[in-house]
Formats: sequence, structure tokens, C-alpha cells
Amino acid sequence: MTSLLVTNIGELVTWDDERPVIRDAALVVEHGHVTWIGDRTAAPDADAVRDVSGAAVIPGFVDSHTHLVFAGDRAPEFEARMSGRPYEAGGIRTTVAATRAATDEQLAANVARHLAQMRAQGTTTVEIKSGYGLTVRDEARSLAIARQATEETTFLGAHVVPEDSEIGAYVDLVTGAMLEACAPYARWIDVFCEAGAFGVDEARTVLEAGIAAGLQPRVHANQLGPGPGVQLAADLGAASADHCTYLDDADVAALADSGVVAGLLPGVEFSTRSPYPDARRLIDAGVTVALATDCNPGSSYTSSMSFCIALAVREMGMTPLEALWSATRGGAFSLRRDDLGHLAVGAKADLVVLDAPSHVHLAYRPGVPLASPIQM
Ligand code: NIG
Ligand code: FE
Repeated sequence: MTSLLVTNIGELVTWDDERPVIRDAALVVEHGHVTWIGDRTAAPDADAVRDVSGAAVIPGFVDSHTHLVFAGDRAPEFEARMSGRPYEAGGIRTTVAATRAATDEQLAANVARHLAQMRAQGTTTVEIKSGYGLTVRDEARSLAIARQATEETTFLGAHVVPEDSEIGAYVDLVTGAMLEACAPYARWIDVFCEAGAFGVDEARTVLEAGIAAGLQPRVHANQLGPGPGVQLAADLGAASADHCTYLDDADVAALADSGVVAGLLPGVEFSTRSPYPDARRLIDAGVTVALATDCNPGSSYTSSMSFCIALAVREMGMTPLEALWSATRGGAFSLRRDDLGHLAVGAKADLVVLDAPSHVHLAYRPGVPLASPIQM
């Protein structure tokens, strides 16, 4: 089969400049790419036809921030939080111990399990970070495993300082032998710039070393309190500053002026019972916003982008259309990918069908498995 016509689409979200949303639409796919979009009644012939009976079709979700290489879970920590204990960055070390103790096969099986969950819920691209190994061997094998699953791999050796290490010596390791072992498997470098993790000087050292090794920077910034992470991301021209929960006006201006994408991760605020980031303020200031799950066993153990969309609409001042844009095109911008997150002619045909007539249902019917990929 060389061409497939998907037709009788009640609402087609393309993000095409001319026609971002088309009602009563059709679309043609050839060799994995979109070759035609338009009105159903004007559709050309194709080798095969798929009738979606009036359902909505959207671009697959682009999850630009996950930590899928881990073992174990932290359900007791979540339970304690729900009774009032605060979230602390140090909880990461619990997962580090479990991850170090796991075999490559166990870690790869965990990644595959979570990816399958994501795919079944409409996510077609996933970024995966290391960061639960924190030794040369464990970070390198984490990234080798992640690389089997996605091109969008991120070296996060600077997640926290491991137990029994001193920060200066650990930064030397991250920027030296660990970076050397990890760079071949990574596209991105990330650092957790936060009280309890890495200060701004260490974070800059880590990111600059990564850049010198050919990686592109992204930053965990301003998650647990105000701080310098967003300004650092802007200074270094990072692709994204993720979390962005505690921002002052200068941070918002820096994001808008630099074009650094603000990655918002509302699963974290849900799971840590914290204030949500103010997406409305960012969008109104002209900042590009991406939504992502941050799927990890500590702060946000969800693989569902639809859930994050629902939270973003209910809690963060986004319209359903803005939230969908951020979960698709915004994620693609965060990963600097022009081929993903939209369905204009030429884009990768990552089609997701909703068991609903419009994208609004993603937020309107939270927790309902509406999104699933169209198999080609
Ligand atoms: O993005 N902020 C740092 N890292 C993760 C949390 C990891 C954990 O708690 O295990 C995050 O939220
Ligand atoms: Fe994260």
C-alpha cells in the first residue's frame, strides 16, 4: 500500500498555518508522511481508505520530558505526601538505589512497559532522561537503554549529588568521565538546578561541558521555589526550561525574549500537592509552552498526556486548544523537531484518533482513554 486516505474526520487538528483545525475533513498519508489535508468532499483517491466515522483526529502527543529509565516505585512516599509530608529532591536517591540494583533487562522491560502505556494513550514521541544511575556505568547503561527506544535521549547525570559524594568532585565526574561515556547515547544535556540539587554555578559548568561535547542544553528550573534556572536556560540558549512553577516577571520576560520553551509538567503539582504553574501568564507574555508528563516514580508517576491536558485546562488557565497545542506542537518545539507535533503537508503522519468528536473532550472527560494511535 502506498497511499492511505483517512476520511470522515469530524475535526482534524493540523496546526497548519492556513487551516489549523478543519471540520468534516480528510487527510492522505504516503510513506509515513502527510501529503494532503482538506475538506472530506474534496479528497483525492488513494490506495486504501480508513473511515473514522466523525471522530476527531489529532497529531500524536510529543512528550518532551520523561524519566523512564528506573526501577521500583515510591508509593509509600506518595502516600506520606498525601498526608502532608512535603516533596523533597532527595527522594530521587531511593530510585537511584533500585535502579543501580536492576539488570539491563529489567530496566529495558520497564521502559518498554511505560512506552507501551504511553503509545496506547496517544503519545507517539517520547524524550527519555537518565538520572537514576549517577555512576559512569549506570548513567551510560541508562542512556544506552533509552536510545533503544527513542532518538530523544537526555544525559541527566546532574540530577542530584549521590550519597557519599561531595558536590565539586561529583560535578568533575559528570563533566569528565561520565559525560564521555554518555555523550554517544545522548542528544541533550540536562541539570536539576534547584536548592537541594545543583546551584547555578554547578549547573552552568555541567551544561557548558555538555555543549562542548556536542549536546544541546535543557534545564530543570524553578520547580520547588524561585531560582536562577530559567535565567541560566535563557543565557545558554537552552531548548527548554522545564517546570517553571515559581517565576518572577524577569523570568517570564527572559523566556519570551530568548525563545526558550517553558515545559510545564502538571502531573508534578498534582502528585506533590503543590501550586500549579501559571500557563496563562506565560502564554499572554508570548512564551512558547510545552506540556509533558515528567513520568517518573517520584514526583509524577503518570504516562498519560491526556491527564496533563485536563490538569492544564482545569488548573492552569489554558484553553483546551492551547493545551492540545502544547502537548503536540509545543513538545516538538521543545525538542527542536519540525517534523513532529503537527499534521500539515510534509509532517510525519503520527495520527491519533479520539473516541470523541472534538479535542475538547480530552479535558472535558478526564481519565477516559479517548486517544489512540491510528495504525498505518
Ligand atoms: O522532574 N525535578 C527533578 N527530577 C524529577 C523528579 C525525580 C524524582 O523525584 O524521582 C522531576 O520532577
Ligand atoms: Fe523531570
